[in-house]
Amino acid sequence: MYACICAAVTTSQVEATILAGARTVSDIGERCFAGTGCGNCHRRLQRLIDETKSSAERVEKLPQSA
Ligand code: FES
Repeated sequence: MYACICAAVTTSQVEATILAGARTVSDIGERCFAGTGCGNCHRRLQRLIDETKSSAERVEKLPQSA
């Protein structure tokens, strides 16, 4: 599924960009061009930032196995 139609960037590509360090919609645009066209996807990109960060934080808090 596309997260940004203008740049033909998928949700998975945006999530990978966030996990690689993008923290803002602007960061995502610089790294994979999502959000650099009409801007209609900016709220979707922000939601992906929020969801991906909170998922990553939950994984970091899991107890480590031996
Ligand atoms: S849909 Fe992302 S910039 Fe247009």
